[in-house]
Amino acid sequence: MIKKFPLKKIREGSADIFAPQGDKISRELPVFYNPVMKLNRDISILLLQQFPAMNICDLLAGTGIRAIRIAKELSYKSITANDHNKNSFSLIKKNMRYNKVKFSVFNDDANRFLLDSKGFDYIDVDPFGSSNPFLDAAVKRISRDGILAVTNTDTAAMTGTYPKSCIRKYWAKPKLDYMMHETGLRILIRKIQLIGMQYEKALIPLFSYYKDHYMRVFFRCIKGKKECDNIAKQHGMLNDAGPLWLGSLWDKKLAYKMHSQLSKTTKEKKALSKNPVGNKKIIIDNNQNYNELLKFLKIIKDESKINAVGFFDTHRMGKIGRKEELIGKIRKKGHKAASTHFLGTGIRTDIDYSLIEKI
Ligand SMILES: C[S@@+](CC[C@H](N)C(=O)[O-])C[C@H]1O[C@@H](n2cnc3c(N)ncnc32)[C@H](O)[C@@H]1O
Repeated sequence: MIKKFPLKKIREGSADIFAPQGDKISRELPVFYNPVMKLNRDISILLLQQFPAMNICDLLAGTGIRAIRIAKELSYKSITANDHNKNSFSLIKKNMRYNKVKFSVFNDDANRFLLDSKGFDYIDVDPFGSSNPFLDAAVKRISRDGILAVTNTDTAAMTGTYPKSCIRKYWAKPKLDYMMHETGLRILIRKIQLIGMQYEKALIPLFSYYKDHYMRVFFRCIKGKKECDNIAKQHGMLNDAGPLWLGSLWDKKLAYKMHSQLSKTTKEKKALSKNPVGNKKIIIDNNQNYNELLKFLKIIKDESKINAVGFFDTHRMGKIGRKEELIGKIRKKGHKAASTHFLGTGIRTDIDYSLIEKI
């Protein structure tokens, strides 16, 4: 039954949407909308802007904000939004009309909807908590060379607060230490890759990150036995945690392109701030502190260039000096070093850690 509930109007990116009123963000809301996840949506759009037009599926659409922003900010072949919540279904249609965009909207269980479909080039899985219930169908219906985007908010299991839960749900042993967010993300990546391998789909991480208590990974899906075997070779242990993904977390060219597009549009945006209407490329709304996203992407762009699994924590190294100083010294020795987005005091570097103390 569709409930009546008070709505408020929200501007996000180039969309104006209606979302339920209420100060507390919880899954008890009649329709779920979390403003904190704007950065998650901004990154998704920025990433999709680097690829040709696709058939896009917003699998767990809530208010439809993702699908509506995609319709307004991207070139696409088709967009389909789905949510099993009846209130969501009617609010997505209302928001769609209000924004003068048009796409298909479904009110079905996500797995049934996916399995009944012909598949998509991009599937966004943005659940409450774990993505586990949706992975099998999403992997089955992601096209060759398609992109599968997955969010998990149940990070406590993967980062080691609930090790038994991690073993049950993610088939690996976590480790609660300074590197837990990276090991947790790598555990999640391997788990999703194992689902892909069952169907001879190699899921290669294009862009991965941890932020605001959630994990997010975009995978490129390549069909092939050999490609899956190559993935399996990159599964192993890291400091007693795992098995986990030991390959790269990013496609560094993509990270570079995303960062440079954002800095360009941010400059344009500042210049156009008096007249921001109607430019499809502008993805940031007026209320956003857009420096936060730019700073975040800059850190990822820089760390993506370093071929190293894990990082070290300057805090744990006693009187070793300031992080920036140390990064400079490592670089002077001809090695790569950069901050990591996983930890404010962390350094990712390709230098042998035993040499760091000498430096
Ligand atoms: C975290 S919210 C999605 C938020 C949205 N993607 C956004 O960016 O604002 C998760 C959504 O999944 C929907 N959902 C949960 N289980 C589902 C299922 N089995 N099938 C379809 N929708 C489901 C919920 O109704 C909820 O709207």
